Amino acid sequence: MTSRKPIAAGNWKMNKSVTETGDFIGQLIEQVDSDQCEIIVAPTFVALDTAVAKSKNTYIQIAAQNCYFKESGAFTGEISPLFLQEMGVSHVILGHSERRTIFGETDSNIRAKMQLAMKHGLVPIFCIGETLEQREAGQVKEVLREQIQQGLQDIAISGENMIIAYEPVWAIGTGKVAGKEDAEQAHAFVRELIQNMYDEQVANEVRILYGGSAKPDNIGELMSMPNVDGGLIGGASLDIASFAKMIQVMQTTQK
Ligand code: PGA
Repeated sequence: MTSRKPIAAGNWKMNKSVTETGDFIGQLIEQVDSDQCEIIVAPTFVALDTAVAKSKNTYIQIAAQNCYFKESGAFTGEISPLFLQEMGVSHVILGHSERRTIFGETDSNIRAKMQLAMKHGLVPIFCIGETLEQREAGQVKEVLREQIQQGLQDIAISGENMIIAYEPVWAIGTGKVAGKEDAEQAHAFVRELIQNMYDEQVANEVRILYGGSAKPDNIGELMSMPNVDGGLIGGASLDIASFAKMIQVMQTTQK
């Protein structure tokens, strides 16, 4: 039986300045004393350098919140995965619902970004999830199938080079967490899709995180489900006490 190490990933979105990022990571280092859980923090682009320097030789890894799908060129305001890799960033969040809805990213943009990011050794945290309307219309499986098949088309993945995050859009930042059964059902379905696209080994090894109003008081029950391998945490990762508490819970739940 494969073991999947849990992952606690903090998505800070457009929060925390450079100074705040450095301070937070300093505090986190003091609170983290175990490598039983992978810890990833995703600050804004301008704070990545500080975050990488501060977390050097610790258990904390640093993610970017986006990247572009070209290596260089006339793309004002965009960031190449090549530059991120050179800085020491290890992961990149791609396909977040805020990128899809506010910035109009499509499955094919996201796939191109994942391909280039992976070419430069970055591990994508590939976000998928349905809206409330899609859930109410009974389209959860259809939406997840489409996002997975389009996003991962022609990409060779393994348990090491890809992380998937199931984030029901209606649960993000709303305080409405998915029930543990709903989360488990979606995660199990995603794993089944991965098995069909790749093989049993990849499906058993790939980590699938839950995201959407995960908090210290609900992370335990989410993590008790067999296919939930960690959390992509927004609001609750901005507070050191709450993020540290969630890491503590996740440390004890290797699958
Ligand atoms: P939330 O955000 O935990 O604040 O709901 C999660 C995310 O958007 O990744």
